[in-house]
Amino acid sequence: MAKGLDIGTMNIICAEKDKNDIVFTQQRNAFMELDSNDLTKTMLDISKVLYIERKDGISLLGEDAFKFATIFEKEARRPMTHGIISPREKEAIPIMKLIVGEVLGQPKKQNEVLYISTPANPIDTDLNVLYHKKTMEMLTKGLKYDTHVIDEGLAVIYSELSDNNFTGIGISVGAGMTNVTLAYLATPLMSFSIARGGDWIDEQASKSTGMPKEHVTATKEKISKLSKEVKMGSVEGALTIYYDALITYVIKNLNRKLAEITPPNVAFPVAIAGGSAQPEGFFDLFEKRLREANLRVDLAKIKHVKDPLLSVARGCLIAARTQEEKGRQQYNQTQTPTQTQTKSTQKKKK
Ligand SMILES: Nc1ncnc2c1ncn2[C@@H]1O[C@H](COP(=O)(O)OP(=O)(O)OP(=O)(O)O)[C@@H](O)[C@H]1O
Ligand SMILES: [Mg+2]
Repeated sequence: MAKGLDIGTMNIICAEKDKNDIVFTQQRNAFMELDSNDLTKTMLDISKVLYIERKDGISLLGEDAFKFATIFEKEARRPMTHGIISPREKEAIPIMKLIVGEVLGQPKKQNEVLYISTPANPIDTDLNVLYHKKTMEMLTKGLKYDTHVIDEGLAVIYSELSDNNFTGIGISVGAGMTNVTLAYLATPLMSFSIARGGDWIDEQASKSTGMPKEHVTATKEKISKLSKEVKMGSVEGALTIYYDALITYVIKNLNRKLAEITPPNVAFPVAIAGGSAQPEGFFDLFEKRLREANLRVDLAKIKHVKDPLLSVARGCLIAARTQEEKGRQQYNQTQTPTQTQTKSTQKKKK
């Protein structure tokens, strides 16, 4: 059984197949430290909260860290920032190991194939993703998986553009980053990220309105709609302005990067996923700005992705299942040489 894992700044999501369905397991990529006397272990055990004990207290993990942060008026800490392990967070790696282990579960067999998403190198900061990529690879291999890595934008293409032979532009607008890949027949010709996503929108809207960032994030996730009429001075108004600014910035950089390659002369469909692509009106605004931008490639349809938050994990699963199938075929070839030879001879005759 192969698995796909989307490792994101805000969410860690695992996808696996269960008969005909895909099952998703999700946790927030967050934690919060509490003193031992804030909550008793028994209370946490009864309410099935995910936590670990430390020498001087308890760390709540995942979704529960977020819930309790509001109750205790503390800030939930995040092991990742801008799509990669946070250099400011000393606890990042051990905490992520626990959350990833919880979401992934045990492999069902030895060397189960796992594809994990990683961001492409950002073009607007000097961050490098290599350390993050290698650490996540080692961390999941340590959990006894046969780990492979896939660019987040390519995972969107695997998930959404199979009916176009995996040719197109895949975009994931997440929390810390926006990832973009252009692929032709499943081969990436260009991948990049920009260090702006939902977190950037929240920060800018918070600075502009004076509202705390957590309040802005909560409003954004609740309203789930980009209002056409911008109300002056409201958080909703600021959110719409910064959504538009982010979309314009992504498209400007996409056009700049397209100038560096010579893509085949075909029309490219575009699929836009990621948690920040969820509000109503997002796709329409993106499409409008794309059509206005005079891109250096011809555009086919702009695909309205059904579950933008789950798309990357789904793409990772598709990549993992393809790899698993390839491995099985190679194994069969080594086990049954006569049968395989017959097959290939038949093929040649055609
Ligand atoms: N209903 C919603 N409306 C608008 N934004 C939302 C909604 N739900 C979640 N988000 C935003 O989506 C973002 C998280 O999306 P996602 O899980 O794709 O990011 P990630 O993969 O964790 O981050 P990254 O890819 O940048 O590392 C956050 O900024 C969050 O506030
Ligand atoms: Mg993501």
